Amino acid sequence: MIPLASVFLSVAISAALGAISPPPLPLPNSKVVFCNYETKSHLREETMQCQGKFELSFLEPALQYCTHLVYGYAAINDESLKLVPLNEQFDVIKDNYRHVTSLKSRHPQLKVLLSVGGNDDISGEGQEKNLKYREVVESSAHRLAFINSAHTLVKSFGFDGIDLAWEFPETKPKKIKSGFGKFWSAVKKTFTGETVIDEDAEKHREQFTSLVKELKNTFKADNLLVTLTVLPNINSTVYYDPRALAPHVDFVSLHAFDFYTPQRNPKLADFPAPLYDLIDRRPDENVDAWVKYWLSNGFPANKLILGIPTYGRTWKLDDDAKVDNVPPEGLDGAGDPGPLTKDAGILSYPEICVRVQGAGNVSPQGYRKIVDVTKRRGSYAYKLPDEEKDEDGIWIGYEDPESAASKAAYVKNKGLGGIAIDDLTLDDFRGTCSRDRFDKYAILKAAVAGL
Ligand SMILES: *[C@@H]1O[C@H](CO)[C@@H](O)[C@H](O)[C@H]1NC(C)=O
Repeated sequence: MIPLASVFLSVAISAALGAISPPPLPLPNSKVVFCNYETKSHLREETMQCQGKFELSFLEPALQYCTHLVYGYAAINDESLKLVPLNEQFDVIKDNYRHVTSLKSRHPQLKVLLSVGGNDDISGEGQEKNLKYREVVESSAHRLAFINSAHTLVKSFGFDGIDLAWEFPETKPKKIKSGFGKFWSAVKKTFTGETVIDEDAEKHREQFTSLVKELKNTFKADNLLVTLTVLPNINSTVYYDPRALAPHVDFVSLHAFDFYTPQRNPKLADFPAPLYDLIDRRPDENVDAWVKYWLSNGFPANKLILGIPTYGRTWKLDDDAKVDNVPPEGLDGAGDPGPLTKDAGILSYPEICVRVQGAGNVSPQGYRKIVDVTKRRGSYAYKLPDEEKDEDGIWIGYEDPESAASKAAYVKNKGLGGIAIDDLTLDDFRGTCSRDRFDKYAILKAAVAGL
């Protein structure tokens, strides 16, 4: 439960923070900074009214803070089970692969990784959803075909290695009835009544370890990196064996966020990416729980890196919504698409900052912002419906520079290897949130400064 009184304090703190200038790389404590680059962003709309499209040149001001640039994403071919470009036209014919790997000539510290999957490589439905990701690991012949094709693709385009953002089946979202009181009991029920999502999960976990081991054996001859990204809502306990994977990976990046999304939980909004366990939530749906699982199962801290999102999740508020506490009551699915990203239920940080910024309790745009003074759960903001103007209300749980800095401090205190910014194209790449338009990438910079 979050009392509204914290609003006053929050505003004072954010005003005092001011601009942050992080140290240039390499960082003295040799942390890594993975910068994810979602190439789908080139498909966003570009008109006079909407400047959503992300051009490659926009990466430039970010790269001095990145040790690794992660190209998202490549795909697995349904039939051959080989690694292939997800968007042949853009990646290969328009040469974006090479444009990106050649950024290394101006940024000698930079390694560029080709990432596979990442929830962008969509196939099948129901039990068949992303089945090819299980098929690849299931036999040594399939694994070999995948590894050889990956090796060829990575080498021919000058990548420094591969990142497996493997699309294992996701955990089922909780079934929630409306009403705060019912929230608790529903949570308890799911603990005992978990439905099985993959009967061969244990086998797949062992086979995935084999894939990673065999992949590293092939890649290591050419000094190529092998990293893993654990995607949101993939249960590490089920699919990842930290101790067995450790010798064969350079880094593992934990995308410990999106625990709540309007797609998974249309009637329940909550902090999407809390750092610590919150009262009466599932104990394994926070950053700290994920990190503890990996560390307590024999994975070295200096190879573990923490994903930090650069966006917020949004829900529509009903006319009778109650927002005094978190979770709020009276939700009606995904919030409206933002002007730049044009996707329901998600807003990029610059789309959020223009709504919530401003001194006082309520921003000029009519949003009330509650910054996370506890540094445990993340920020949120909301705007109630306006019946007169016939405007929907919206509730936004989001990462901001302050919460990103808290996560970086956590990484530092735990001696983890670094951070992964997910992703650059949703951070403030135009400097919209700053008074100085050359001051770009607010979340990336705040996180790097906190390391
Ligand atoms: C993850 O799997 C374990 C069992 O291996 C289970 O106890 C736990 O509830 C699961 N977590 C989620 C979020 O589904």
